[in-house]
Amino acid sequence: MSSISKVRTAVVGCGMISNIYIRNLKNLFYIIDLVAVCDLNEEAAKRQAAAFGVEKVMTIDEVAASDDIELVINLTGPVAHYDVIKKMLLAGKHCYTEKMFTTDLDQARELVALANEKGLYLGVAPDTVLGAGIQTAKRVIDCGLIGDVTSVQVHVNRNQSLNSEIFRFLRNNGGALPYDVGIYYVGAMLMLLGPVKTIQAVGKPAPVHEAQFLYNSSPEESWQVPGTNVVAAALEFESGAVGSVLFDGNTIGATQHGFTIYGTKGILEVPDPNEFGGQPELILPEGGRTTIPYTHGYDGKNVLGGEPQWFDGYGNRGIGVAEMAWAIRRGRKNNRCSKEYGLHCMEVLLGMDEAAATGKAVETKTRFVMEGLTPGYYSTSGGMRGDAERSLMD
Ligand SMILES: NC(=O)c1ccc[n+]([C@@H]2O[C@H](COP(=O)([O-])OP(=O)(O)OC[C@H]3O[C@@H](n4cnc5c(N)ncnc54)[C@H](O)[C@@H]3O)[C@@H](O)[C@H]2O)c1
Repeated sequence: MSSISKVRTAVVGCGMISNIYIRNLKNLFYIIDLVAVCDLNEEAAKRQAAAFGVEKVMTIDEVAASDDIELVINLTGPVAHYDVIKKMLLAGKHCYTEKMFTTDLDQARELVALANEKGLYLGVAPDTVLGAGIQTAKRVIDCGLIGDVTSVQVHVNRNQSLNSEIFRFLRNNGGALPYDVGIYYVGAMLMLLGPVKTIQAVGKPAPVHEAQFLYNSSPEESWQVPGTNVVAAALEFESGAVGSVLFDGNTIGATQHGFTIYGTKGILEVPDPNEFGGQPELILPEGGRTTIPYTHGYDGKNVLGGEPQWFDGYGNRGIGVAEMAWAIRRGRKNNRCSKEYGLHCMEVLLGMDEAAATGKAVETKTRFVMEGLTPGYYSTSGGMRGDAERSLMD
């Protein structure tokens, strides 16, 4: 390990999600050397640098101009993604971005072409697909335990209008439930079943927001979460499997979710892809329901000194960056949370919008490959480090 040089990295965007990212980039992943943080709000960047012991606070121009930084992690809100990623690619930096890739498909295509032209790595969240829950589910499918996949069903709900009162970025493009949350389900579905060929859908917009919280809302403010906030879609995968998707952001916030994959030999209940852990359950014709033990590490447990921490279940944020950093150092392709995966996720989500708006089936154009991580390496139970990072190397 000591002969491998770490990838010198900067974080752009020091808001809410940066807490768990920065902590993990400093403590959890060997391959990353986090040397700088940056935010339009310099105070936010200074606060995070002081809290987590990051050497430098930089402006975005300084990050772009720095010879010292190879990789930039984009943790700004979705509407800023395109500009930040483009600037960093043009400056010759590898880039990894939180979801959504961008809020516009043409912009995402342009960024993929730019990264290809410059020979730079560009990775895209969600990286919960690299957690123990979804990786174990993939192993079950790859081992043939459910035979050939015939169909998949996913659903998730929230009250996105209520949530937009707390998280202001949800009032902008990318804030509707399919983009903000549905992307975890679409991302995991694609990772487990491969690319989608055809999309049909019906959908509804969000209601105009009505103030619900006493302290967060100003009664005079009015907005509507943009885009399609309820969507029912029928998918045909390239493999021939079919899929049924329901995302409802116009109902209550008591989230119910489901993710079931049906096959010729069995049925797999997939854990919640919004988190890193959760154990898959396998149903065979005469075997009842069996909980599958993890075949991989990174179960999302966020425990320090024996105590569960904030974001428990979500504790492995940054795994996608670390996996891409290993790809950079080993000179191999990034075939996990790749730009092609990010682009196809967008194409499917935006395809649902288009199909709902036009009443016509949408054919996708892009394809991607997603390899599983090397099995058999685990994180130490409850600890910050185990040997799980070995599963990210190759
Ligand atoms: N909050 C969550 O639970 C969560 C979970 C998973 C993923 N994400 C994703 O992470 C990203 C950030 O979410 P968040 O909740 O931390 O948002 P946030 O609004 O709390 O933070 C975003 C930060 O980016 C900064 N910023 C915006 N434009 C910038 C620019 N051009 N240059 C530098 N800084 C800029 C803002 O000043 C702000 O501090 C989003 O893409 C979101 O989808 C959020």
